[in-house]
Amino acid sequence: MQGLSEPWHLLRKGRANKKVKIFIDTANIEEIRQMNKLGIIDGVTTNPTLISKEKGDFKSIIKEITEIVDGPISAEVISLDAEGMVDEARPLSRIHKNINIKIPLTQEGLKAVKILSRERIKTNVTLCFSASQALLAAKAGATFISPFIGRLDDISQNGMDLVRDIKEIYKNYSFKTEIIVASVRHPLHVLEAAKIGADIATVPYKVLTQLLKHPLTDIGIERFLNDWKKVEGRS
Ligand code: G3P
Repeated sequence: MQGLSEPWHLLRKGRANKKVKIFIDTANIEEIRQMNKLGIIDGVTTNPTLISKEKGDFKSIIKEITEIVDGPISAEVISLDAEGMVDEARPLSRIHKNINIKIPLTQEGLKAVKILSRERIKTNVTLCFSASQALLAAKAGATFISPFIGRLDDISQNGMDLVRDIKEIYKNYSFKTEIIVASVRHPLHVLEAAKIGADIATVPYKVLTQLLKHPLTDIGIERFLNDWKKVEGRS
């Protein structure tokens, strides 16, 4: 939601009252620091694979991330039973108020989501591959749902169709669960997510740089600098 922190020139009458949110999908502190400086990062998602690529222990990495980005930070549990998930979630959630707990989309996962939502611990229900799964996650009280777009594309199923379906279902029943478009592999995934109006896209560092770069921008800068040398040569 747009707030007073929004630059005044972006607060225009009649504009949709919704801010596009970009999370960075990494546990790499340097990548997070770099992108955070650009003022484009609203949150961070991690998972066991991303944590395994970094040095240091899980909780210290998560804590450090909370000190860099002031927004939702996902930390994933690895237990397969609800009780174990809840036991992992509670201490993780105490690291910082911005932490949400990533829970896999299984029966046990939904049980855990229900318990955690009663305790006001935020959840990001992950590994979502169908609209029916997303519907049940919202009913269980998920704060976020993470459809894995790239992995569906990998098996010849259009991942973005899933995002459209989830958006329609959540809108029909005014679910507050926010859609995080995850498993983003290239810039078009981010643009499609924005066109559909998904709440959030969580984007790897490489794709963020691809979104930013344009060869004509680089060529344009080079040309301006070369021409400027002629101006300097006059004095
Ligand atoms: O956000 C989920 C993401 O980390 C998984 O991405 O590329 O392994 O499918 P990928």
